[in-house]
Amino acid sequence: MKSTLFSFFVILIVVNQSFSQTREVLELKNWKFYQGDVSHASQLNFDDSEWEQVIVPHDWAIKGPFDKEIDLQVVKIEQNNETIATEKTGRTGSLPFIGVGWYRTKIVRPDYDTDKQVILTFDGAMSNAEVYVNGRKIGNRPYGYSYFFFDISKELKVGSENVIAVRLENKAFSSRWYPGAGIYRKVKMITKDIASFKHWGHFITTPYINDSIAKINIKSQVHGENIVIKTFIKDEKGNVVVENVANQRFGDEIEQSISLMNPKKWDIETPYLYTAEMELYQDDILKDNESITFGVREIKYSSEVGFELNGKVVKFKGVCLHHDLGPLGVAVNKSALRRQLRILKDLGVNAIRSSHNMPSIEQLELCDEMGFLFLAESFDEWKKPKVKNGYNLYFDEWAEKDIVDLVHATRNHPSIVMWSAGNEVPDQWGSDGVKRAKWIQDIFHREDSTRPVTVGMDQVKAVMENGFGAILDVPGLNYRVHLYEDAYKLFPQGMILGSETASTVSSRGVYKFPVEIGFNRIHDDLQSSSYDVEYCSWSNLPDDDFVLQDDKPWVIGEFVWTGFDYLGEPTPYDNFWPSRSSYFGILDLAGIPKDRYYLYRSRWNKKEETLHILPHWNWKGREREKTPVFVYTNYESAELFVNGKSQGVQRKNNTSNLHRYRLMWMDVKYEPGEVKVVAFDENGKAVAEKFIRTSGKAHSILLEADRKVINADGEDLSFITATIVDRRGVPVPDAMERLSFVVSGNGSFKAVCNGDATSLEVFHNPAMKTFNGKLVIIVQSSEIEGDIKVTVSGKGLKTSVIDLSSKK
Ligand code: GAL
Repeated sequence: MKSTLFSFFVILIVVNQSFSQTREVLELKNWKFYQGDVSHASQLNFDDSEWEQVIVPHDWAIKGPFDKEIDLQVVKIEQNNETIATEKTGRTGSLPFIGVGWYRTKIVRPDYDTDKQVILTFDGAMSNAEVYVNGRKIGNRPYGYSYFFFDISKELKVGSENVIAVRLENKAFSSRWYPGAGIYRKVKMITKDIASFKHWGHFITTPYINDSIAKINIKSQVHGENIVIKTFIKDEKGNVVVENVANQRFGDEIEQSISLMNPKKWDIETPYLYTAEMELYQDDILKDNESITFGVREIKYSSEVGFELNGKVVKFKGVCLHHDLGPLGVAVNKSALRRQLRILKDLGVNAIRSSHNMPSIEQLELCDEMGFLFLAESFDEWKKPKVKNGYNLYFDEWAEKDIVDLVHATRNHPSIVMWSAGNEVPDQWGSDGVKRAKWIQDIFHREDSTRPVTVGMDQVKAVMENGFGAILDVPGLNYRVHLYEDAYKLFPQGMILGSETASTVSSRGVYKFPVEIGFNRIHDDLQSSSYDVEYCSWSNLPDDDFVLQDDKPWVIGEFVWTGFDYLGEPTPYDNFWPSRSSYFGILDLAGIPKDRYYLYRSRWNKKEETLHILPHWNWKGREREKTPVFVYTNYESAELFVNGKSQGVQRKNNTSNLHRYRLMWMDVKYEPGEVKVVAFDENGKAVAEKFIRTSGKAHSILLEADRKVINADGEDLSFITATIVDRRGVPVPDAMERLSFVVSGNGSFKAVCNGDATSLEVFHNPAMKTFNGKLVIIVQSSEIEGDIKVTVSGKGLKTSVIDLSSKK
């Protein structure tokens, strides 16, 4: 039966914040850290004076150094169709994340707090967390991506110091990418009355919505007797638009239905957010409150039209993202996440998949604010292993709790429109896996009936035969473009999601000749060609996905592997040292666009023009040799000129998938000078042009900051792209120049990255070689506002300075 799967009107809570003295939320940022195992480290009187002082979120491994021996995995990756085991050197990034790490912080519980409840919350700790208060173990959490909390009210001593200690342990063979290490997400201590809202206790939906009214249903879990809740709904300007009082209770739950008149909807274009301020009274005394930001939106999945947001069909123009932030490692930083999303907006992306685990709360908040749809994933493994010490070790004991906590912690974010129960789990084979799929999906449904569940499936033939694929709300296919049609016909849902697509590989600014389409191509320099013609044995080129996305109305969108390069998994150079980060990204590890950026942009960003020429035009030694030129553009046709000589007009056409989406001049002979493209509209009128030029020698450094004014909060970041240019200001596309950086004033040097997947230079030294003419320097504000000066110099180059400032 092809029927409407999900048709829900949902209003969702977004942010939990305290806004009065009734509840106190303290972020625990300052910790002592030690890498290694120490007995008695959990005890109050343990001497940690020699330990390193760190700020949490913290990633203990990102400073390296890179080392081939770290987590060296001699394996046969079955997902990648490998038949023999080989030595995978950079699979998890070659950074020192393995082993034990201890964190300690001290808190004082004031006298007046004795009748309060104290909750200690972790947004994630990598991994195998054991949490101690004053030497007593209060709980543990194996999965490094889970959100978790403990009630520590009874553990704390009043009026004197208490120590919170966390032991983490990362095992070898536990990941397929760089997982990071440490308390890499926020830790908070929430002090509230015994009569209060339960942690993650709210769930808001609307069973009815139209242009004039929305019925807001708020279910709140409470502690304590004789509770009354007052709710004030505010618009974006802070005006109260409706209020409500409720006390009717069933068990621990108080439910409200509130009419919101003329609701403004949360959408990709206009992500409107309301705020609900909820007060909890016991016997007329205010005991607790939470300020909650929420959005109003309707999601619907049907076999007729696929996915609809607020009644409009939307295809997922999505990217998969791993959780690391390149040179910053996995320590969550909102400013870095915001930059990623800003770039992805320009690219025309409308959806993110948090592959293959729970997203950070910060990323969800930003997606709510900026208007991105979100596919929130849980696991890369169920019970059957991909890596020896992966999630398979914890599945039986923890899977249900991990899912419940994922849903409870994030269910109120309007951006989340689908859950993913897993990625390419080997449990796709065999009947046990089918049962597990149903079991897990049922847990999601039990906890949240408003969103469908998918699994990214790569064993498409197996899941077509054994029923696994038919069970899921939304069948997600990873690659296997040749099986989309069969799967669509066989599965009952009437739709297919490209849960993972492309896995095309390229290195920014690297071009290989002759230009040939092929998979698993290995080059001596351990780089992949930016002509975007290289992929993996299991994957394909972007254009092969575009055909399905464009021609099959039942394909509801795609999530490209990946938006940004990430640490680890350096396919196709998995067993070639020193490759240590991915080649899959549309953008490189530094966040600099590769050529592929413009291919996707030309179809995804409908508002702006895209007209991009590749390769670069510095080919000394290739004179008179065939040097194909590609143009990625939203225009259908264009004419190419080399030093004023026409190379002919090319028009997108159906002779091949590539010809349908790219303009390609295959016979251009290289001669130094200028390449110009003139694009035509449908009527053949010249409407846009672009050119690139052969550069002279490296002369100076162009510095461009993504933001010149940043917040003086000690966390905000400015990303400065340094480009080597010649005397005339033309970028030198093959420059490999060692640069060094000095940051002075009210900011500091944080990290640097050049996007070279084979570089062993560490990210936190203020010096690095440019990779193909560019690198990105990251500068962090201090808590004092003022000027920040960044000076960049290199041997034989004119020194450059860029002035930034920070404001409170
Ligand atoms: C997929 C997998 C991803 C990544 C990708 C590389 O099969 O889900 O995690 O490994 O392949 O192509």
